[in-house]
Amino acid sequence: MTQQELLQKADRYFVGGGLGEFRLPPEVALVVSHGRGSKFYDVDGKEYIDFLLGSGPMILGHCHPAVVEAVQQQILRGTTFLALNEPAIHLAEKIVEAAPCGEKIRFVCTGSEATAYALRMARAFTGRDRILRFEGGWHGVSDAALHGARPSPPGGYPVTRPDGAGIPKAWSRDVLASPFNDVAQARHLIEMYHDELAAVIVEPLQRCIRPRPGFFETLRELTTRYGIILVFDEVVTGFRLAWGGAQERYGVVPDLAAYGKTISGGYPNAAICGRADVMDTVNAWRPAANPQRAIVSGTFNGYPIAATAGLATLRELEKPGTYERLYAMGNRIIREIEAMGKEFSIPLKVGGEGPVLQVLFTEDADIVNYESMFRADKAKAYTFGVELIKRGFFVSPYEKIYLSVIHSDEDIDRMLEAAREVLRTEIAR
Ligand SMILES: Cc1ncc(COP(=O)(O)O)c(C=O)c1O
Repeated sequence: MTQQELLQKADRYFVGGGLGEFRLPPEVALVVSHGRGSKFYDVDGKEYIDFLLGSGPMILGHCHPAVVEAVQQQILRGTTFLALNEPAIHLAEKIVEAAPCGEKIRFVCTGSEATAYALRMARAFTGRDRILRFEGGWHGVSDAALHGARPSPPGGYPVTRPDGAGIPKAWSRDVLASPFNDVAQARHLIEMYHDELAAVIVEPLQRCIRPRPGFFETLRELTTRYGIILVFDEVVTGFRLAWGGAQERYGVVPDLAAYGKTISGGYPNAAICGRADVMDTVNAWRPAANPQRAIVSGTFNGYPIAATAGLATLRELEKPGTYERLYAMGNRIIREIEAMGKEFSIPLKVGGEGPVLQVLFTEDADIVNYESMFRADKAKAYTFGVELIKRGFFVSPYEKIYLSVIHSDEDIDRMLEAAREVLRTEIAR
């Protein structure tokens, strides 16, 4: 079938013609045929250098031989058992030993589950219901997470509203929001609600916004003081910003961390990892009558094939030089794209950290919170993304650029050359 025919079929059968919120405009719509290394190919045979990487999981690129071989072997040993299995145990050890907060772990399947259940554990442990989150952070699609994720316009702290239809408004009472990086506001809210707050949840690199020095230290100090569970959503940053994730990179240890993407090796897998006493809320041996007993369980938890892929991925990432390479590529992209902005008099900033970046068209001197991201020129970002896709560089328009250890210097050269052309011919006009 041709790509056009497949796209028509997708339109006929899928809601909105796509798989979820991610969608491409008709001019660059495509159907992936297969991927290898840093590239994938659409059904018509066009090659793309992939800077989306399945939204992060493919940190080794597509079909990495170590992952493929490990998965092939596991498939021959069986698919899923619900019972304990070797790959899940080995992956658990890797993550718990790598995570600065790691004492115990529970596997789930998606990042959305991981954050939702981390919050459930915090509520069970503390006996409190309220959560403080940071405006504009993305913690997936649970009812709680979809309060204050995409407010338009920003502001109105600490009140949150559902980000979409179908979400009970009752959550607005329990999910409070504060602006990222605002120490004074966070302090004010934590002090005001301290005896009602179960958790403070934060994306340590919020989208592409770097934390200001002292912000996490303050959260840590206040949550410890009031017995509130500090949750780092490391679904993007885990094993990407550093072997020990954002906790290691920023030097602050939360009580719980949610993992996904990178630990999955490209198969559905995610986890909650952290303090043994808090994690013990979901200990199935605890009597149902125990007031702290929470339930987190699922058919595919500890799915052996995903655990095998995740383990093979982490074994590759563990090799010397991984993070140096990711940061060298990322820092080069930041430096060169920001220089292009100056050259063509286009106000722009590259947010994020080495292995995960985002180009924002903004006059602001600094990107500090959701409000500053909200102010950035989305139309320009969209044009930038779509024009890169047209030229064979796959990115999510408006969203992040993900790097893999398999991207070559030549991939980066070619992408920067294309970015230069797009900035000069499509944005600077
Ligand atoms: C920081 C963060 N948390 C949670 C999630 C949700 O993960 P999933 O899409 O696997 O449910 C995402 C997804 O992009 C994310 O970026």
